Amino acid sequence: MTETPSRLVTAVILVAAGSGQRLGYGMPKASVPLGGEPILMHALRGIVSSGTASQVCVVLPAGDDALRKLCADFQEELADGGPLLSVVDGGATRADSVRAGFEALMDGIEAVLVHDAARALTPEAVFHRVADALAAGAEAVIPAVAVVDTVKTVAPTQGPDAAVAPELVTGTAPREELRAVQTPQGFRVETLRHAHRAARDLEPEQAAAVTDDAMLVEMTGTPVHAVRGSIQSLKITTPLDLIFAEGLLEGPLGARWVEG
Ligand code: CTP
Ligand code: MG
Repeated sequence: MTETPSRLVTAVILVAAGSGQRLGYGMPKASVPLGGEPILMHALRGIVSSGTASQVCVVLPAGDDALRKLCADFQEELADGGPLLSVVDGGATRADSVRAGFEALMDGIEAVLVHDAARALTPEAVFHRVADALAAGAEAVIPAVAVVDTVKTVAPTQGPDAAVAPELVTGTAPREELRAVQTPQGFRVETLRHAHRAARDLEPEQAAAVTDDAMLVEMTGTPVHAVRGSIQSLKITTPLDLIFAEGLLEGPLGARWVEG
């Protein structure tokens, strides 16, 4: 019988420092109520109940005392043996916020899971699949789901055809090879540190095109593995996503959500 490799000592960096422009609530997205509780609380509870983290580094909007208080209260609420909660101020971009979380890692952390607070309903099983792939030897691993839409590349229409339609199709990506990528994204701690250090040398235009941590690791040539994500890990971005998330929590479909 093959033994399951033991889990690495892991920290979750929970990035929650965004302003939530597209949600349009006039408050940071982490504070927006979902099922009667701030989005941040759902994200924190999900991480803790997965049991994958020895430490959670919560990255908050600078100066947000209400969210800090929420974290302090949650730390008290945690039973003995729960993870250490560290709170730091975020930066101007998501990548800056991840780096801020990195600074707060305690000694002895072997692996880091970077997670978006906006993916507040991520099932525990996804955390486990990511943590298991790291334990099995992956340097980097992301949760991913198949793409349901046909995906095409386009370019602005040039010349007289511009009056017909604004864009022209330039190709169709092979859908069976495409994946929509989620968080938590897992890394050996040194792998992620190296990738973020290398990112400091990127031109501003390249830096702006970096939308996840795995992309930085790919740039360093390290293989990135993919495990199965979950459509329940939707990123709450727009008001429609919030409606979906509310529906997952308490709507008539709730009981049918058995997907891991
Ligand atoms: N994030 C962060 N620091 C930033 C920008 C984003 O910690 N400077 C976090 C967000 O809080 C979120 C995750 O990164 O959990 C994904 O970002 P996104 O969904 O874009 O959230 P916001 O930036 O808050 O939303 P918007 O882009 O609509 O303003
Ligand atoms: Mg954003």
